[in-house]
Amino acid sequence: MFVWKNASKLQRQVRKLFQQVSSDKFKLFTRFSPDTTLISPDMTSNLPKRSPEDNPMAVIARCKKEGRPVFVAGPMVRYSKLPFRELVRHYKTDIVYTPMILAREFVRHENARISDFTTNASDRPLILQVGANNVTDLLRMCEMVHPYVDGIGLNCGCPIKEQVREGIGAALMSKKELVADMVRAVKKTYGHTLVMEVKIRVHADIAETIEFVKCVEEAGVDFITVHGRTKNTRSSVPADFGKIKAIKEIATVPIIANGDCRSLKDAYSICEYTGCDGVMAVRGVLYNPAMFAGFKDTPWGAVELFLDLASSYGLPFRLIQHHVSCMLESQTSKKLHIELNEATCFAEMLDFFDKHFTLKRSGDAGFGSAVDFPYKDVEERNLEDRKKESRQTTGRRLKL
Ligand SMILES: Cc1cc2nc3c(=O)[nH]c(=O)nc-3n(C[C@H](O)[C@H](O)[C@H](O)COP(=O)(O)O)c2cc1C
Repeated sequence: MFVWKNASKLQRQVRKLFQQVSSDKFKLFTRFSPDTTLISPDMTSNLPKRSPEDNPMAVIARCKKEGRPVFVAGPMVRYSKLPFRELVRHYKTDIVYTPMILAREFVRHENARISDFTTNASDRPLILQVGANNVTDLLRMCEMVHPYVDGIGLNCGCPIKEQVREGIGAALMSKKELVADMVRAVKKTYGHTLVMEVKIRVHADIAETIEFVKCVEEAGVDFITVHGRTKNTRSSVPADFGKIKAIKEIATVPIIANGDCRSLKDAYSICEYTGCDGVMAVRGVLYNPAMFAGFKDTPWGAVELFLDLASSYGLPFRLIQHHVSCMLESQTSKKLHIELNEATCFAEMLDFFDKHFTLKRSGDAGFGSAVDFPYKDVEERNLEDRKKESRQTTGRRLKL
């Protein structure tokens, strides 16, 4: 795990790489400020202490006072890394998660810490999601990360076979006593200074989920995120908001609804229907990181900001390409999309952007603020306009 320190080793490597391929197209991707420090529990950090204002329970209370749902960007293995987290925060996301990090690996191997968790001074409110199957690993992990996060989330929903076989993720949905022990241990050690959340799926029989919820509430959980699918439901099947509503009705702690939230309008509809305190979006923010700010599609500025953040902080090229590919998917022609995905390195990807769009760099007037895609080719722009019109007329409907 790292925290960005003024030019960490990784940043220096990124800079060196850019200098090697020195060209104008790189020179403005330089977000190196004292604020951007990478920290590791193996390093001494001078990050400011966590602020009570960033405590997720304070954020939930604040949103309630403002009469609106809490907007949460959920955990995504591989994707919810520091540059993406900063991007969604820019667009009015209240609470952001790290990807699930496996406690067993994290507490035992320095390499896992370096590659799995990167943070900086402005990476807050932040919940670090943990994949764990025992109290000892979870507590050791909390000991290492608690100065750098505002909350710990326990993943009780991951359906991936290898994790379930190890008793991690969705396997925990049939072990409520173990989950309660884990929650109790964290709360006993850290009290209100470290928020404890569990992210669950629903059972086929809702009575079982209700029992589960009561059990973890008794153990002291601060809030619960409910994904409205069972561990066997495919993600293409609509989330069951009726079950989320039933859980909210009996719960004494705040409940965040998860599943199929693709727009700000969805967020309000889901919370109105279920009565939940907030909504967690995952694929929604992956495809449109600005959705909580009310944008129906990814605004162009988000693409510029993401390229700047990802190249400044350092993110593997394929990951950057996948993010950008998701952001562009609904807005560009198939031809352009294929061309983007054929780029084999960051320089080629920038060539692609400079060929088809007016891509501003940090420092340019208007950087990061355009909404429409600034196509150089009129034909492509017309195609995009037609796609937008057709999306508006056919529209996707949320099943509540
Ligand atoms: C690429 C990807 C990675 C995911 N990684 C995680 C994860 O690390 N932890 C977790 O609890 N759920 C993970 N999920 C599940 C989501 O958090 C979420 O529960 C699910 O996608 C439903 O929400 P959505 O309809 O808003 O996408 C992942 C989903 C996707 C698409």
